[in-house]
Amino acid sequence: MNVKIFSFFLLTVFSLLGCKNEKPLSCDDVNFSLSITKTDVTQNPANGTITATASGGEGFTYTIGSTTNSTGKFENLPAGTYTVVGRNSIGCSKSQLIVIDSNIPGDPCTNNSITINATSTPATPCVAGNGTINISAGGSTGFTYNLNGGAFQNSNVFGNLAVGTYNITVKDVNGCSKTQQVSIAVAPAGPNFTNVKNIIKSNCGGCHLNGGSSGGVNYDNDCSIVNGWNKINEECVIRSSMPPSGPLSSNLKAQITAWVNAGHRYSD
Ligand code: HEC
Repeated sequence: MNVKIFSFFLLTVFSLLGCKNEKPLSCDDVNFSLSITKTDVTQNPANGTITATASGGEGFTYTIGSTTNSTGKFENLPAGTYTVVGRNSIGCSKSQLIVIDSNIPGDPCTNNSITINATSTPATPCVAGNGTINISAGGSTGFTYNLNGGAFQNSNVFGNLAVGTYNITVKDVNGCSKTQQVSIAVAPAGPNFTNVKNIIKSNCGGCHLNGGSSGGVNYDNDCSIVNGWNKINEECVIRSSMPPSGPLSSNLKAQITAWVNAGHRYSD
């Protein structure tokens, strides 16, 4: 290569690198992702394998339980459900669930035909988790159930759950298991709460919204409305002291009262 062109090329590369290094890379910049393959168990001692491959960034490490390596290869694994976590050097991480089945001839779990049908009820914001998961299993008998790898229980219902994604495992009379992911959604806002939120949006802005916190009160977060129900009722309905420009109309006051009487929750 011509020396001039080559040095121009080097200059360009270094200035591009220089540019890139000015701002630290975020996980969005590197588009971090994780892909996983597995082989099932075909003999004793167990010979299941998991191979994890990350991309986006550099310095990848892979973790299953208490084992971390940089190859992404995990060998001699027994049948079961594994959570694989991949990370890169700037701390981006993803986790993925993978099930290794047993295909040992004569093993009662070979071609295990357990089916899982799980439904969930949403959780309400601003209170301790109140979502539920209800599991219906088929294809075998003597089922017990666990959540996120916890202890197995006889009940097919899990309650008091917050919004999120859960791994449920169903185990049958032979100790064979299947795992599936189930999500708990956010419960929709109730009509009375929605009315009050709209009243606040139209009448309390500037002073208590978009970062405003007159008197130490800010309503940008829905839960601050839910948790502040008593003060809202006191200032707007009982004392009529808010908004300072003059009391709310009796119709709007009645909407606040309806929410308070319904239980002043997000879901009311
Ligand atoms: C023009 C500005 C303004 C508007 C609009 C306004 N407020 Fe206020 N608010 C204040 C100020 C200033 C204070 C602190 C002084 C006070 O308590 O009077 C306050 C205090 C409060 C308090 C705390 C009272 C206490 O004693 O702790 C509550 C609750 C409140 N406002 C609710 C509301 C609600 C609900 C609305 C809308 C319906 C609203 N405010 C509209 C300015 C405003």
